[in-house]
Amino acid sequence: MDNLTVIVLAAGGGTRMKSKTIKMLHPVCGRSMIGHVLRAVQAVEPSKVVTVVGHQREQVARHVTDLVSDVVLAVQETQEGTAHAVRVAVEAAGTTTGTVIVTAGDTPMLEGETLRAFAEEHEAAQRAVSILSGRVADPFGYGRILRDAEGDVEAIVEEKDATPEQREIDEISSGIFAFDAEFLVDALPRISNDNAQGEYYLPDTVQLAREAGLTVGAYVIDDVIQTQGANDRAQLAELGRLMNQRIVTRWMKDGVTVMDPATTWIEADVVLEPDVTILPGTQLLGATIVHEDAVVGPDTTLKDCEVGAGARVVRTHGELAIVGDGASVGPFAYLRPGTQLGTGGKIGTFVETKNSQIGDGAKVPHLSYVGDAEIGEGTNIGAGTIFANYDGVAKHRTVIGRHAKTGSNNTFVAPVAVGDGAGTAGGTVVRRDVPPGALAVSSSPQRNLEGWTESRRAGTAQAEAARTARERQEKTDG
Ligand code: UD1
Ligand code: CA
Repeated sequence: MDNLTVIVLAAGGGTRMKSKTIKMLHPVCGRSMIGHVLRAVQAVEPSKVVTVVGHQREQVARHVTDLVSDVVLAVQETQEGTAHAVRVAVEAAGTTTGTVIVTAGDTPMLEGETLRAFAEEHEAAQRAVSILSGRVADPFGYGRILRDAEGDVEAIVEEKDATPEQREIDEISSGIFAFDAEFLVDALPRISNDNAQGEYYLPDTVQLAREAGLTVGAYVIDDVIQTQGANDRAQLAELGRLMNQRIVTRWMKDGVTVMDPATTWIEADVVLEPDVTILPGTQLLGATIVHEDAVVGPDTTLKDCEVGAGARVVRTHGELAIVGDGASVGPFAYLRPGTQLGTGGKIGTFVETKNSQIGDGAKVPHLSYVGDAEIGEGTNIGAGTIFANYDGVAKHRTVIGRHAKTGSNNTFVAPVAVGDGAGTAGGTVVRRDVPPGALAVSSSPQRNLEGWTESRRAGTAQAEAARTARERQEKTDG
């Protein structure tokens, strides 16, 4: 489609959200409402995208420019209605010919394919105005489509201007229009604001086209959810639920096993490969990618993570972490940003990791904190190990070589290095580098103070147990 201008209206504030953030910037499944709309708009390959900004214009402009670098921004100083907003947009873009599509910034369910089919039908029918319409169970608040005896679209009447009979009509305007640009440019200045809201209504273009003897038509979609917006937080949550349902269903159709779709949340930008399995209570967020045969869940949240093929991630919270092929994580692991687990590696139970590279086949199985560390391939970290990376002023790194075996309850006081094939004894506090192949032992020899309990804790159950054991021993010794 050449010479196509798409106008996205985003100047209104959305007071019912009761938010310091403008409505269109609220996220649905990990992407702003206007972000979803702009994604759908890309599908019609417009020659120009214009966004009308007003409320919180700097914030909206920045966000929109991040998503569509060559977007034309049109500032609507005062919100005088949708026709006024479109007029501002047309002037900013300098559009005089071709096709113009207008859509609101708060219909995140709108699909690119729908917009494309709508635009194609509009052009094929050579209409002055096309409206994307639909029949809904509760038309309250929407503009109603009035049709004449032949069934042709005559006008759109807004809720506040409608008669009681007109309010019974269940065919509504989605607010998405396609126009012949020459007609639109001519019609906009002729629209008046003589109506219940004192606004310039874009839907009034329909009547103007009819009066000029031009063709008007509606493209009725069955999937009316696509035209739904959210005005408050309850509607926002409902849209989120519906969109999540669609995303989860799409992945299942693409070969992903989702055991419980109702408790699985997959955001819009997540990528899953076939034969991935998602277990109940799992949220995959941001730019997370999961490769084939991996099993994620139950009860796992991963944001901006990559999970390798065949890996297993159980009851884990992760952000900006990479889990290698065939690796195993959890249950109860916390992967913080910069965690990289190698192929076949393990981050086990009650383990927290941050900014650390854990090599292929390396294991941190139990109760440990690993921060700012590098752990070589095949190395095993003992239970209850702390990588003490922070001296109260700065963070330091710990480097542990290949195939090292560190004992339980160790503390690595960074900066420190442990060589390849080295070992550490249980309870070691490693303050100095350990050469390759050496065994580090830092605890002092153990002393046993014989009879201490009976002399110092006389009359307690502990002393009684000690006495019984002593007498039994004395009898055995004869
Ligand atoms: C509008 C339509 C209605 C349609 C409904 C679909 C009009 C007069 N009414 O009603 O027929 O059924 O959408 O949701 O067009 N905006 C601006 N500048 C303005 C006014 C609005 O940019 O001066 C933007 C808003 O930010 C929003 C969109 O236009 O993205 C629609 O405005 P809104 O006030 O929500 O219109 P509705 O009353 O919902
Ligand atoms: Ca609206």
